[in-house]
Amino acid sequence: MPAINEVVDLTLEDGVALITLDNPPVNALSPKLMDGMYDAFIQAIGDPEVRAILLLCAGRTFIAGADIKALGVESPKVDFFELQEKIEGAGKPVVAALHGTCLGGGLEVALTCHYRIAAPGTKLGLPEVNLGLLPGGGGTQRLPRIVGVATALDLLISGRQVDARGALAVGLVDVIADTTDLAVAAKAYALALLAEGRPVKRVSDLADRIGDADAAVFEAARDQAERLRRGEEAPRAIIRCVEAAARGDFDAGIAVERAEFQKLLDGPQSAALRYAFFAERQAAKVAGLAPDVQPRALTRVGLVGTGAIGRRLAVALLDAGVETALFDADAAALDRAGAAIDRTALILTGSLSDLAACDLVIEAVADALEAKQAILAELDHAAPGALLATSTARPEVDAIADATTRPCAVIGLHFLSSENADRVLEIVRGKVTSDEAVATALALARKLKRVGVLSGSGPGSISQRTMLVLRQQADAMIAQGVAPEAIERAATEFGFPTGLLAARTDAGTATRTLADSEILDRLLIPLINEAANILGDGIAQRGSDIDMVWVHGYGWPAWRGGPTYHADLLGLPSVIEKVQSFGFNPAPRLVEYAAAGRKLAG
Ligand code: 3HC
Repeated sequence: MPAINEVVDLTLEDGVALITLDNPPVNALSPKLMDGMYDAFIQAIGDPEVRAILLLCAGRTFIAGADIKALGVESPKVDFFELQEKIEGAGKPVVAALHGTCLGGGLEVALTCHYRIAAPGTKLGLPEVNLGLLPGGGGTQRLPRIVGVATALDLLISGRQVDARGALAVGLVDVIADTTDLAVAAKAYALALLAEGRPVKRVSDLADRIGDADAAVFEAARDQAERLRRGEEAPRAIIRCVEAAARGDFDAGIAVERAEFQKLLDGPQSAALRYAFFAERQAAKVAGLAPDVQPRALTRVGLVGTGAIGRRLAVALLDAGVETALFDADAAALDRAGAAIDRTALILTGSLSDLAACDLVIEAVADALEAKQAILAELDHAAPGALLATSTARPEVDAIADATTRPCAVIGLHFLSSENADRVLEIVRGKVTSDEAVATALALARKLKRVGVLSGSGPGSISQRTMLVLRQQADAMIAQGVAPEAIERAATEFGFPTGLLAARTDAGTATRTLADSEILDRLLIPLINEAANILGDGIAQRGSDIDMVWVHGYGWPAWRGGPTYHADLLGLPSVIEKVQSFGFNPAPRLVEYAAAGRKLAG
């Protein structure tokens, strides 16, 4: 049998048709992949020599979902439902062989296959909610038919993944492969099914689990959605789809799902969340880095300082499997930190020379510039082979680097941390910081599951400059008699976590009432203007990087994209007008982009 197209292959072995997908990097369901799959299934189903069909993927993963870039833009020749009907309706057993991350549309394809075998490390999930969507390929209808309504609601609203064992326990997979070669195990499984004469098994026919929920289960799901995803539309749409599933008519449920999916796909929240998905990945791309630059291996990292930052970092590094050495000259402080962290793998030391073998040493000490300079100067000698980082929200990376004999090995690492948003590592590059140090900092961010965002140091980093403006604006309103609670309420209504401006409660009596929309404009328009100044100053590489600092560092609701995305939605000419009405000079970048019809987010 020939290759079907560039990304789908079909071969026949011992009566089993092997349909292999190869669409790097994550086998996303692009139109070409779907077209190829459709043709392959038609051929395999029609071929009398084929007794069973095996669907498997080359590369690092089974299908990780729909192609997010193509969603709503490009279409395959037959739609997803026709493809799925073809697979599920096949009169011979269809087996899906899963590995890597079987997510979204990938899991939905797997659920239309009659049997599922998974490699031991496989992760499965329906994370569409994170993109402001719901599973639009039957996932909201098939999942509850397998795992029951309550578990399905939890998986769909959280978007969380389950591992192969968990999937086996709830019936999402039938068997876990017992050899390291998944293709071999899957073919043996398909042949065993044939030998046992096992029938085709269609999830859409299952009925015994979907009637197991009462109104209280859906009420609890609404509470969960409100708690986890305040302001988001997708969870409510998901609940409506599962309610339809629970009514028992599969086709009617699919019709509800189709309509709800389309509404979300066309809506603003999903557009913003899909933007944020790519913005997060774009942040890791640094223009101008030498193409052959390699990050340090980060086998061992040293930390200087046993305060809150040092302790938190030690735990995060140990969780990421990095050998971690924690230094403090004060033996009692070191003991206290050791007891609090309580990990046998943690190396505690009172001697800087014990950090000599580290790939990277991070200073997490006092905030005074002189103290930081003194420590970096000592580290320069004690760990001559290590890259050196100062954990600082301050702008003086260059001044700190100059205290060493190798300023190019010094970088600023600002671990943004608030109660609801602690996923950013702002990487502050000094004037002479090396490419290797930048690449290593990005690798560190990835290890710690943070979004690494590059920032220049200038008169302040991205986070400092923008947050300063927000605070000044809040203070100015309070000084004019606006109640801090009114500001807090407007911010949380917008979608910020509570407490973003909690420190600003030192006001006198409130004498002035402003509409929420006015408060928001006064907070956010100057912040957007500063973002444009930051871009103009070359402190941020792109608008979307500033957005990631705000979404993952300060809790700007991801479904609103971030400050520069928000500016583009408002329209830059309208932003400029408002900037002027508040008495500020519009950033030259704003004026330039407005005139050119360009987008600030990039
Ligand atoms: N579509 C298009 N591109 C995708 C993609 C997708 N579904 N998933 C990942 N990619 C791209 C990334 O943008 C990245 O591209 P780049 O190298 O150019 O930056 C590349 O693949 C690798 O991705 P990661 O850097 O994220 O690699 P990781 O190994 O860290 O993670 C992953 C892999 C777990 C698959 C992660 O990428 C992920 O979570 N992807 C999204 C999964 C998802 O949300 N699926 C549902 C899609 S919506 C859907 O299926 C609708 C359906 O119900 C109809």
